[in-house]
Amino acid sequence: MSNFGDTGAVLIAGGAGYIGSHVNRVLAGRGRATVVYDNLSRGHREFLRWGEFEEGDLGDTGRLREVFRKHRIGSVMHFAAFTYVGESVEDPLAYYDNNVANTVNLLGVMREFGARDFIFSSTAAIFGNPDVVPVKEEHPRRPINPYGRSKLMIEDILGDCSAAYGLRSVCLRYFNAAGADPAAEIGEWHEPETHLVPLVLDAAIGARDNVQIYGTDYDTPDGTCVRDYIHVMDLAEAHFQALAYLRSGGETNAFNLGNGRGFSVREVIEAARSVTGKEIRAVEAPRRPGDPAVLVADSGKAMKVLGWSPRYNSLEGIVETAWAWRRKMKAG
Ligand code: UFG
Repeated sequence: MSNFGDTGAVLIAGGAGYIGSHVNRVLAGRGRATVVYDNLSRGHREFLRWGEFEEGDLGDTGRLREVFRKHRIGSVMHFAAFTYVGESVEDPLAYYDNNVANTVNLLGVMREFGARDFIFSSTAAIFGNPDVVPVKEEHPRRPINPYGRSKLMIEDILGDCSAAYGLRSVCLRYFNAAGADPAAEIGEWHEPETHLVPLVLDAAIGARDNVQIYGTDYDTPDGTCVRDYIHVMDLAEAHFQALAYLRSGGETNAFNLGNGRGFSVREVIEAARSVTGKEIRAVEAPRRPGDPAVLVADSGKAMKVLGWSPRYNSLEGIVETAWAWRRKMKAG
């Protein structure tokens, strides 16, 4: 483990959300000073369990300055983005405002305060419909919706900031984040929920009558979309390692993060049936616009450069942690 020394606290923008809260848990658990900065518009107060909390909006420069000054922020991890593809098509300006303009604002404050390291939540959505899977980092980036474009814009802006100001960054391109903290203190909770694993578990627990399968005529082995599900704790570990990488002098870089194995929608439902012992009614439905048939990551570069490797490499293992959280959430 590297000695971070006197490098200030880590600001976790969006640390009350799904992935940010898991990263906060891991960093704080390893003794890092963390400060969650969140406006709680989509995050959850219940997830503010570790480190310090400062309520605020990324568009509020004065508030950001206050927080940077007060906590001596040295590094930033940025999770505070809108992430619904459909919503981004209906209201692109909301996405460019929150995901792009607010990030530019945050980078400006980092520059003012001399904070040097930035870890950015990027996404497989920057690749659009990939030509080749598994997808390597150098695959052409051709997003097919405003959400993906907003993330790609920041990747490019970060490259410019690195060249101009020495503000070094790592873009972590998540494939399909899933699962929950194994202690089930936090987990996946979006409102509205659109992600497959929590929806399947909602059907298992009886909060929904069924789960819909969006499209059964894709060019895949069983006709349903194939995705690379990666455990949120494995993503959290990648953030920890990316921070160590930057703090030990690593250059601006980007990594694709997944398990390297694809599972179809039907396979996810089957895994959930086996984990939960519930029937789970699945209903075939039309395709959801904008869904690529297959998205699978090649994470060889993260393994080589960061020394990262996912621990949760079975789909059942991932679903089990999500199920433990889902049952606890309902009980609570
Ligand atoms: N799906 C269903 N039924 C549902 C929900 C989803 O069949 O009720 C299918 C989707 O069509 C897709 C798969 O399950 O094939 C996974 O869907 P999710 O919504 O869970 O995840 P996505 O693959 O759409 O989303 C992920 C990230 C997004 C990112 C997107 C890029 O969560 O942030 O990949 O394609 F934008």
